[in-house]
Amino acid sequence: MESRKPLIAGNWKMFKTCPEATDTAQKLVELVGDVKSVDIMIAPTFTALAMVSEIIKDSPVELGAQNLYWEKEGAFTGEISAPMIVSAGCRYVIIGHSERRQFFGETDEGVNKKIKAAFEASLIPIVCVGETESERDSGKTFSVLDKQIQEGLKKLNLDASSPPVIAYEPIWAIGTGKTAQPEQAQEAHAYIRQLISEDFGIELASIIRILYGGSVKPGNIAELMALQDIDGALVGGASLKPETFSEIIHYQK
Ligand code: 13P
Repeated sequence: MESRKPLIAGNWKMFKTCPEATDTAQKLVELVGDVKSVDIMIAPTFTALAMVSEIIKDSPVELGAQNLYWEKEGAFTGEISAPMIVSAGCRYVIIGHSERRQFFGETDEGVNKKIKAAFEASLIPIVCVGETESERDSGKTFSVLDKQIQEGLKKLNLDASSPPVIAYEPIWAIGTGKTAQPEQAQEAHAYIRQLISEDFGIELASIIRILYGGSVKPGNIAELMALQDIDGALVGGASLKPETFSEIIHYQK
């Protein structure tokens, strides 16, 4: 039986100035204590990464960035590379979040290049996929996931020794207070695991962590985590308050 250590990840999106971010991280470190049963990651904005890294360095909380650009360096004003993120203390990077796809024109092709760049820098990519409400209503959920997974992970040499993380975030559930029904979430997660198995083999499929994202809160985390193919959560709004995020992290109690 495979064992997948849960990952509870907080995506702070475009919230918090540097003092606010360091204050939140400090409180979170105090609240989480020495939790060992789950991995924990927070992804502040780029400007706060290095400072937050200092604060969490002796704690179980790990650092992630919310995006990267696939070139290592160069004349790409405003972009940030994988080695820069690593040097700011990151272990993870979120790639292809639906807000980046929706508002900044990210494509599966770009996502593919970013995942490759993340691996080259030894970062763990958290690759986001998910359908819109109208895609779900018109029965296209699985074909959207097919395309995002197949094109996003195309020609990548994935193996079980350094697996990426996938985050299934149905767009209609992000920031809306609507969470996918447990059976909808489980169905999508099982489908994604099956796709990984077909494309990369059963070994990777059995250990890859598939997170659920979309209005995760202290009140629904336990029910979601009880599902067979849900291996953690990517939390937006509820990760901004350290008390609330800590409650999610301690969902087992
Ligand atoms: P909410 O938890 O605010 O719905 O956001 C989810 C999300 O987009 C995490 O990446």
